[in-house]
Amino acid sequence: MKKLVINGKNRLQGEISISGAKNAAVAIIPAAILSDGICRIENLPDISDVNELIAILGELGAGVKQINSSTIEVDSSTITSYIVPAEKSKKLRASSYLMGAMLGRFSKAKVAPPGGCDFGVRPIDQHIKGFELLGSTVTIADDMVNIEAKKLVGNQIYLDVVSVGATVNIMLAAVKAQGLTVIENAAKEPHIVDLANFLVSMGADIRGAGTNTIKIRGVSQLHGTTYSIIPDQIEAGTYMAAVVAASGDVIIKNVIPKHLESITAKLVEMGATIDDLDDALRVRSDGKIRRCNIKTMPHPGFPTDMQPQIATVLTIADGKSVITESIWDNRFKYAEQLNKLGAFIKAEGKVAEVYGVEGLTGNTVKATDLRAGAAMVIAGLIAKGETVIEDIHHIQRGYEKIVEKLSNVGADIKIINE
Ligand code: EPU
Repeated sequence: MKKLVINGKNRLQGEISISGAKNAAVAIIPAAILSDGICRIENLPDISDVNELIAILGELGAGVKQINSSTIEVDSSTITSYIVPAEKSKKLRASSYLMGAMLGRFSKAKVAPPGGCDFGVRPIDQHIKGFELLGSTVTIADDMVNIEAKKLVGNQIYLDVVSVGATVNIMLAAVKAQGLTVIENAAKEPHIVDLANFLVSMGADIRGAGTNTIKIRGVSQLHGTTYSIIPDQIEAGTYMAAVVAASGDVIIKNVIPKHLESITAKLVEMGATIDDLDDALRVRSDGKIRRCNIKTMPHPGFPTDMQPQIATVLTIADGKSVITESIWDNRFKYAEQLNKLGAFIKAEGKVAEVYGVEGLTGNTVKATDLRAGAAMVIAGLIAKGETVIEDIHHIQRGYEKIVEKLSNVGADIKIINE
């Protein structure tokens, strides 16, 4: 079993380069199924969620050529199956995007419900509502979601909750549907815009991505493309939080500062100095953290996927901080792990109170999910002595070369195989 071992208290100094965005990549790879030509996808992060999805495409019959660690070429013309069984789909949440992509390509899809991080119920009712409004019949039998349409026809679709997954799936199903689809109350995350840009580069007609209303006029064919994925907002935010917590002076390279505004604003409120260098951010911190409150919101609000990492920085703040999680029901599982390191967090329901302490002390903790794992890494950097993190496969789902990137800026971190 692989574990991460961190000896904390090192100041961080140097540069960290950010990889391509996981949540854009996992939407763009299935989107390639819709193309009649070859899609060259660049700046893919080398992480297990992406590699699993590429493998699934290959198993479904697509020709996938790995050009280098961050570039693939996908030829979907050879895909014959529209069925994705449980042993494939349970591997990651984003396998649900195969529903929209298969539906858009074959007018039918049979996909087992997706897996992914466990933070409470993760419904797909809004995805299903979208598919139905586009003219499909959706039935669930033997733990498989069966979706079939005689013909996909555009429609007005109002999402009851702002959902990244439903917005992606509806876009995938609608790009080749007949006529106009309008998604109201759509998600506005940078990865939604990136998916739209990818589809447009294949010949799709999509307007308004990044706003509440996305308009998609169906086209009959999508051609091949070459496309480079945006940098990962959450990976960047995680390293920014790490520098602020551990203290240091680090340039976070290959970022889009606009995507990081809510995270930057909070870290500045907490005492960091952050300079915008166009495609990089310089983050400086003396490790003295001011308390603050955080409420997670859909983009452009503070991202839920940064909530565990920011809470970890606040464990050593100069007072009590209140964190309100408004997206997921159960995203404070990491609090118990941080408390093992000497933090003082009281979490109940969707609110956590973080009482700042003098410092953390090393111990053995678990990565209970992807971002909780990132939080443990930050905690290990702050803590005195040795922190051992178990279940690191969760971290490897979303962070490329985390050990190398942190070692390069002076962290004492390694992977051991026991
Ligand atoms: N929701 C519904 N019905 C639906 C879909 C969602 O009620 O049909 C609710 C959910 O229960 C939740 C809220 O809507 O309360 C938002 O869920 P959303 O659909 O936006 O989440 P998701 O698409 O499953 C993506 C990211 C998550 C991230 C959320 C929120 C991907 C692959 N995953 O999940 O990322 O937390 O959006 O921003 O894009 C991560 O990267 O660590 C991660 C978990």
